Amino acid sequence: MGGYRFSLASSCALAFSFAGVALAQTSSPGASPRMKAIVYREYGSPDVLRLEEIGKPVPDDNQLLIKVRAASVNPLDWHYMEGAPYIVRLLGFGLIEPKDTRLGVDYAGTVEAVGKNVTTFKPGDEVFGGRTGAFAEYVTVSADGSVVPKPAGVTFEQAASMPIAAVTALQALRDSGKLRPGQKVLINGASGGVGTFAVQIAKSLGANVTGVCSTRNVDLVRSIGADQVIDYTKEDYTESGQRYDLIIDNVGNHSFLACRRALTPEGTYVLIGGGGVNDARWVGGLARPLRALVLSRFIGQKMGSMLARLTKEDLTILGDLVQAGKVKPVIDRRYRLSEVPDAIRYLEQGHARGKVVITLDPNAEVSPASSSVAKVSEARSGPVVIALGLVGIIVGVSIVPIVVALALNRRFRRRNPGKKPYRWGYYFSVQSFVAGIVLGILLEGVVAVIVCGVIYGVLAWFFARRHHWAWLTLTIASFNPLAWIINLVYLRKRWREDAVATPTI
Ligand SMILES: NC(=O)c1ccc[n+]([C@@H]2O[C@H](COP(=O)([O-])OP(=O)(O)OC[C@H]3O[C@@H](n4cnc5c(N)ncnc54)[C@H](OP(=O)(O)O)[C@@H]3O)[C@@H](O)[C@H]2O)c1
Repeated sequence: MGGYRFSLASSCALAFSFAGVALAQTSSPGASPRMKAIVYREYGSPDVLRLEEIGKPVPDDNQLLIKVRAASVNPLDWHYMEGAPYIVRLLGFGLIEPKDTRLGVDYAGTVEAVGKNVTTFKPGDEVFGGRTGAFAEYVTVSADGSVVPKPAGVTFEQAASMPIAAVTALQALRDSGKLRPGQKVLINGASGGVGTFAVQIAKSLGANVTGVCSTRNVDLVRSIGADQVIDYTKEDYTESGQRYDLIIDNVGNHSFLACRRALTPEGTYVLIGGGGVNDARWVGGLARPLRALVLSRFIGQKMGSMLARLTKEDLTILGDLVQAGKVKPVIDRRYRLSEVPDAIRYLEQGHARGKVVITLDPNAEVSPASSSVAKVSEARSGPVVIALGLVGIIVGVSIVPIVVALALNRRFRRRNPGKKPYRWGYYFSVQSFVAGIVLGILLEGVVAVIVCGVIYGVLAWFFARRHHWAWLTLTIASFNPLAWIINLVYLRKRWREDAVATPTI
């Protein structure tokens, strides 16, 4: 996705209310061309979004300038907007405020200009793809990036609804799920953005498809091709006795052990996402992939998660599927650019029926007035509390083990003058104990924290006392290839020393 761009054009803004969004215009006589875009400068609920006039982007030699005709909304957008789960802010998104102030990814539009090195596109071409900042009148995209021609016969709204949701569905079924014709696949969350594409793509791949949705969406899911539909308000698919070769889970509302019951002995479970805007704000959906990874080590079935990648190849495949009529994007609601906050509020409720689209066509019909859209974001911790919490995590995980290891090593040397230092051993022990606690937190639940804390604590204690079995067990249980290598070299050396003299601490 795109690079970071800041828009600070608000100081002399003339703001007025426009369908729930403040449109800030900056008077800039003789300045470069302007465009309207959705901008946010602080994390929070959709109330932080502003429709502003900012500088119209200029393509570089390798880029296209695209006039956006439609965009679509994904849960990813509210993750960026809310800065949630908070832990991702450490990954360069901006600890207290967003580094990139622009929102939206999926777009479809018309090429307005191309850089001098671009030969694959020309002005007037109709295209679609993914680019940070898609909630705007224009975007610039690298010609090599995720942009492909929009097939004739596919509308801008249909094309804009595809990138994230349809590519996710395709890659989950084809790459992670290795779906083959005739196999039985279950799509949990079949009526949402990803789900409606997944049902249709699975059918086009020749699978027998079961969709899971609520009562009001049963007919919709059947109409897009599901062979069977399970109404989750009446039946739990994990207890139906049916077994599937592949489960695509867009909701993540069942334990892995329960999902396993619904898999054939060699079946595959692919976790796509799940969790609402108010769920697990610190670590969010990061815990479940970890749990799947741990569990899949101990069972015959494959359980894992996936992260979609927008590629030209897959966008083209999907465009062709829609063109051929094998996949028909399901569009739930349409909003104008100024109504992006309402569109996101609606999506945050977690019950979209297909895709929510932003149209930039002034003549397009949009969904009725959005005052009915309820706010779902709860009051959240302030930015300073979040920043302190995240800094605390960094200090706890990295600096505390170093300080404790140095202190223990000093104590060891004081008590055992002349013996070799033991810094790495102490560091690894303490670090492993901390990692055990973090693992417990990620697995969610006090019991998990206590169990992991006790197991890793006991192993660390005996590791620090140089018991060979604990060295081996803790090294393997660190799940850290770097530690495996270091300990392999280090352990053998120390074991040889231990054979000469057994130290005490
Ligand atoms: N891994 C990736 O690369 C990737 C990519 C895209 C999206 N995602 C994630 O995948 C998830 C789904 O995305 P989306 O775009 O499809 O979201 P969405 O459009 O908001 O869809 C949510 C759907 O979930 C259904 N649902 C809610 N509770 C359910 C339950 N208990 N059982 C079955 N269905 C239930 C809703 O149907 P009802 O109204 O019938 O309840 C609704 O249709 C999100 O968490 C998103 O962050 C991950």
